[in-house]
Amino acid sequence: MTKSTLKDNFLWGGAVAAHQLEGGYNEDGKGLSIADFMTLGSHEHPRKLTETIEEGEYYPNHKAIDFYHHYKEDIALMAQMGFKAFRTSIAWSRIFPNGDENKPNEAGLAFYDKMFDECLKYGIKPVVTLSHFEMPYNLVTNYGGWSNRKLIDFFARFAHVCFERYHNKVKYWMTFNEINNQTNYESDISVYENSGVKFKPGDNKQKMMYQAAHYELVASAQAVQIGHAIDPSMQIGCMLAFCPIYPASSRPEDVLFAKKAMDARLYFGDVHVNGAYPNWLKAYFENKKWDLDISDNDLEILKHGTVDYVAFSYYMSFTAKYTDHWDYREFSDLVKNPYVKANDWGWAIDPVGLRYALDWMTTRWHKPLFIVENGLGAYDKLTDDKKVHDDYRIEYLRSHIVEMKKAVHDDGVDLMGYLPWGCIDLVSASTGEMKKRYGFIYVDEDDYGQGSMKRYKKDSFNWYKKVIASNGENLE
Ligand code: BG6
Repeated sequence: MTKSTLKDNFLWGGAVAAHQLEGGYNEDGKGLSIADFMTLGSHEHPRKLTETIEEGEYYPNHKAIDFYHHYKEDIALMAQMGFKAFRTSIAWSRIFPNGDENKPNEAGLAFYDKMFDECLKYGIKPVVTLSHFEMPYNLVTNYGGWSNRKLIDFFARFAHVCFERYHNKVKYWMTFNEINNQTNYESDISVYENSGVKFKPGDNKQKMMYQAAHYELVASAQAVQIGHAIDPSMQIGCMLAFCPIYPASSRPEDVLFAKKAMDARLYFGDVHVNGAYPNWLKAYFENKKWDLDISDNDLEILKHGTVDYVAFSYYMSFTAKYTDHWDYREFSDLVKNPYVKANDWGWAIDPVGLRYALDWMTTRWHKPLFIVENGLGAYDKLTDDKKVHDDYRIEYLRSHIVEMKKAVHDDGVDLMGYLPWGCIDLVSASTGEMKKRYGFIYVDEDDYGQGSMKRYKKDSFNWYKKVIASNGENLE
């Protein structure tokens, strides 16, 4: 047998997030989270962020795919595929229902104990995100989300409880999911999901985003220190949404603009890895004359809480064009890339961009990298004989794995694993739909929670099983 490109302990598996699959939104003492106030939307109509749970609206995260009661069956299916790792998040409001209590909710902690034990029973390593778009709603209404410094302490307490309780079961952690998505501050939903911040008319959205992000970065660095003090064998990483931004042309302004747009989206990684803000951003803050609350003590915490690895999601690349300003705005500066196709939700399909991402981050940060999301959201059809022929998904994943292997083999990238998103169908974060499916496992449920909830193996299930068994050598 020839030696495989990927290391022997490469972590193959899949990824999900608590609010998108667990359901049980008010069981066993769980408090309401921000996701519980997001209605069903679609590609055309954004999800609404309601103030209360309104009658006549449908909130898909309340039920999700009911993993809360199906986790044994679902993890058994993942084990059948040969998963080495399973990424999920701990719903913060199961542990601290309001986010600001002193004592955790034991029933919430017990659920994750059982679930992690179920993974470990099959030799599946849990990979856990502490905060994945699901902070307790009380922190929004009573504190203004991450615009309030107090959240640093609340998060530290939450992180401390989780590390203390699970450090023997969970060795791989991430602090904030896609922390950098909020640079898309024109989108209310992105900042709400990341930071629980709701804008009012007249707010300086950009400034508020940088402030909230700063508190999160400090909280993340503090969590890294807390975790390492509890158990130095835990690997604690950050998590970024990586979308390469290509220049629309070789016009120098386009090239510089695309570079600046990437810096703006990815400075979070600089802070997480280097423990300090990059020079361009310090100059930017100064030139804006903003009175941001960034203390010397915060900067010390950042310096001493650098991450062990960089985890990231990769779905698509962007292409940007310079117009009349240097502040990148996702809504107005992106143009269509004629060289790549897109999925039904307009997300560019660009496998080469994954190699670009891996190479770019290695050159910049020299850290182990971990692909913790990648995948194709698509409409799937369950046939009368209960099959799903998702060759389009296989093709998407295959082409990305090919590029991933080139990055390891040809570019010397230190890669920890590959965890495709939504390994079992779940609720879409952006639209709340069930019909935007990613899984190897089909869940018989529609956008309104109707269906038998039965699980079926898609064609991609058996394909992925072979990929894992061959450590990525057999992609046929
Ligand atoms: C990432 C998130 O943005 O992309 C996930 O971390 C999300 O929570 C995934 O589900 C895919 O996006 P969507 O909108 O298709 O669910």
